[in-house]
Amino acid sequence: MSTTPDTEAIKKEISSCSLDSGDALESFRLKYLSRKGLIPELLAGIGKAAPEDRARLGKELNELKQLATTRFEEAKAELESQTGAQVTATDDPTLPPPPTAVGSTHPLSQTLAEIKSIFYRLGFTIADGPELEDDFHNFTALNFPPEHPARDMQDTFFIRKDEQNPENDLVLRTHTSPVQIRLMKEQKPPVRAIMPGRVYRNESITAKSYCLFHQVEGLYVDKNVSLADLKHTLITFAGHLFGKNLKYRIRPSFFPFTEPSLEMDIWWETGNRPGQWMEILGAGMVHPNVLKAVDVDPEVYTGFAFGMGVERITMSRYEIDDIRLLYDNDLRFLNQFP
Ligand code: PHE
Repeated sequence: MSTTPDTEAIKKEISSCSLDSGDALESFRLKYLSRKGLIPELLAGIGKAAPEDRARLGKELNELKQLATTRFEEAKAELESQTGAQVTATDDPTLPPPPTAVGSTHPLSQTLAEIKSIFYRLGFTIADGPELEDDFHNFTALNFPPEHPARDMQDTFFIRKDEQNPENDLVLRTHTSPVQIRLMKEQKPPVRAIMPGRVYRNESITAKSYCLFHQVEGLYVDKNVSLADLKHTLITFAGHLFGKNLKYRIRPSFFPFTEPSLEMDIWWETGNRPGQWMEILGAGMVHPNVLKAVDVDPEVYTGFAFGMGVERITMSRYEIDDIRLLYDNDLRFLNQFP
């Protein structure tokens, strides 16, 4: 004897039960839809119903199945959209985590790191000094005559003027050479160090010049340091940084704090442009007046110094043709330097 199932009651149950959690959803599926669930069981029982009831029952049960399936799918989609990836991540702890965005090292930092490592291998230590300097360290001790044009407002950012005592004027340092003075006041020869840092110049901003940039100063003071030592150091350095095939030239130049003075250019070819000489550093033998300013006897000691532009070197290494790109912090640019 078989009884006809009360499909109306089941329909109500299916429509009204709450499916607001993964657990509820799973119980629902097991109860109504799984292979041993209620609806498949009732469908399987159709054959036992009275022949005149079969057609109606079949139709009702199929509607029931349809209803349960739709409810299940909708509740599942709703639940997933609410909890999203969280549910999957907690459901499956073996899934790899979503990728994290990692930054890249700024091209200037990459170049600086390489410069430091080359000079480290050549026996140089590292020193630094303040970016806000007084006139004495930035100019006077470096043998700049009082009326020297480099003290002009054109180049220097003056921060404080002291009319009584101009040596106390405060400036944003225009080069890293004042660190030579600070270092030699602290440490008697032998001194062999590089001094990296930011410098500032009141120049108009163009593709080639910016109001701030980086230099690496170098200083070697000891007995019997010669121009040949300087030349050898610079060529060794440039060979490591740019490769052995580097084309370079060394020209005479002038700085108040070195005598003789020179500049080093490298041959720079970017992409399809015609090549050109690019100055990357100034250098020379430390002027006797500079040694005297820090109480080192120029009759006993000699030394060489150099100062190189990190931006220039970076631009030639990476074929960057506008210095401003280095300061825009545009990720489309920076991401090209992993
Ligand atoms: N200070 C010089 C400049 O800024 C570079 C330099 C450093 C030259 C040391 C000679 C010796 O241009």
